[in-house]
Amino acid sequence: MSSAAQNSSVGSSPAQISAEQNSAEHVPERIPVMIPHLGPEEARAAAEAVLSGWVAQGPRVAEFERAFATGVGAGHGVAVSSCTTGLHLALVACGIGPGDEVVVPSLSFIATANAVRYVGAVPVFADVDEQTGNLTADTVAAVLTPRTRAVMVVHQGGVPAEVAELRALCSALGLELIEDAACAIGSTFRGAPVGRGASVAAWSFHPRKLLTTGEGGMVTLDDADRAVRLRRLREHGMSVSAADRHASSGPVYESYLETGFNYRMTDIQAAVGLVQLGRLEALVARRRELAARYHELLADLPALRAVRDPAHGTTNYQSFWVLLEPGAPGRRDDLLARLADAGISARRGIMAAHLEPAYAGHPHAPLPATERLTRDSLILPLFHTMTSAQQDRVVAVLRKAVG
Ligand SMILES: Cc1ncc(COP(=O)(O)O)c(C=O)c1O
Repeated sequence: MSSAAQNSSVGSSPAQISAEQNSAEHVPERIPVMIPHLGPEEARAAAEAVLSGWVAQGPRVAEFERAFATGVGAGHGVAVSSCTTGLHLALVACGIGPGDEVVVPSLSFIATANAVRYVGAVPVFADVDEQTGNLTADTVAAVLTPRTRAVMVVHQGGVPAEVAELRALCSALGLELIEDAACAIGSTFRGAPVGRGASVAAWSFHPRKLLTTGEGGMVTLDDADRAVRLRRLREHGMSVSAADRHASSGPVYESYLETGFNYRMTDIQAAVGLVQLGRLEALVARRRELAARYHELLADLPALRAVRDPAHGTTNYQSFWVLLEPGAPGRRDDLLARLADAGISARRGIMAAHLEPAYAGHPHAPLPATERLTRDSLILPLFHTMTSAQQDRVVAVLRKAVG
C-alpha cells in the first residue's frame, strides 16, 4: 500500500473529526481510510526519551531492535529511518550493484523498485498472482536471465507471499531472496511470523502501517556478519557507533570503513515503537475482526471480490482491498467517486510502478494480473476504532453502486 495513500486526516483524533463535523449540519461524518492507533502511552514514552537527553539513536533503539527481532523470530534487528532505506541497505549488504538484475513486483509501492535503482541495478518486473497480489515462483521464473542476482518479494497489503517456493527457486539458482515486509508485521506464513523466508527482510513503520513510529523501518536477518555491516552502513560507515563512543571513558578515534549513509532511527521513534510493539497482537486481532465483518457484509455482492487469507498463511489486513469482478457494473474510479461523495476516504488499489512516469520506457514482460489488480481494485477504510455503523455506511455505498 502506497505511502501516498495515507489518509490526510492522520493526526486528527476521531474526536476532533466528529467535533468538526458536528458544526456542519447535514455533512456526513467523514470516514478516513486509516487512523494510526497511538495514545497517551506512546506520548509518554516519547516525552521520556526527550527528557532523558538522548534523542538520537541510542539505548531505546537498541531495545526496540532486540524486541522487534525477537517478535519476528530473527537473530538480529537493525533499525533504520524507513523501509525504503532498509531495502537499500539490504541490497548493498547482499552485494547487488551495477549490471545486476533484481526481480520485483511492479504491483507495489514504488519504493520497492526504486531501491534496486539506488544500487545501480535494474529492477525486472514480474507479474503477480491475482488472488494474493504477490510474486510466485512461476511468475519469477518467467523473467529470470543470466544477470538475475536477487528477488525482492513483497507481502502486499499484508498478504503473505509463498516464500518457501520462492526460497527453493532462489537457493537452487544461487539468488538472494529479500523480503519487502513493509506491510506485513503480524502476518503469518505457515504458522510463523512472516519475515523468515528470505536471508533479509525490511519493515516499515510509516503511519499507514499497523505499527508506527511516525517514519521508521527495520531490517531483520540471522546473519551476524551482515548485521554488523548493516549497522555500520546506516551510520556513515563508522567503525565505532555513536552510542559506543559516548559510553567510552577515553578518547575514541573512529574510522570510516566504507561509504555509508545516515539512515538512523531516533530514540524518540524507538520509544514509540516499543509501546506499539506491545499493542501488536491487539492491533492485528482488531483488523482481522473488522475484515471478517466486511466479508460478511460483502458476501451477497458478487461484483466484488475481497482480499482473504491465502492457503499458506494469514494477513494482518494492513490493506483491505476489493476487486471489481469482470462484468461488474461501473468502474473502480466511479466507485471511488461515489464513496468520496458520501464522505468516505477509500483509495485506488496498489499502484503499478511500470505505469508511472518514473518507469516510462523501462522494458518489461506482459503484466496482465498486475494491470488488472491496479485498475480494478480499491482499498476500503479499516482502522482500529472503526465502528460497525461506519462499516455499514461504506458497504451501503458499494451496494448501491454494484449490488
Ligand atoms: C511494499 C512497500 N515497500 C516499501 C514501502 C516504503 O516504506 P517506507 O515509507 O517506510 O519507506 C512501502 C510503503 O508504503 C510499501 O508499501
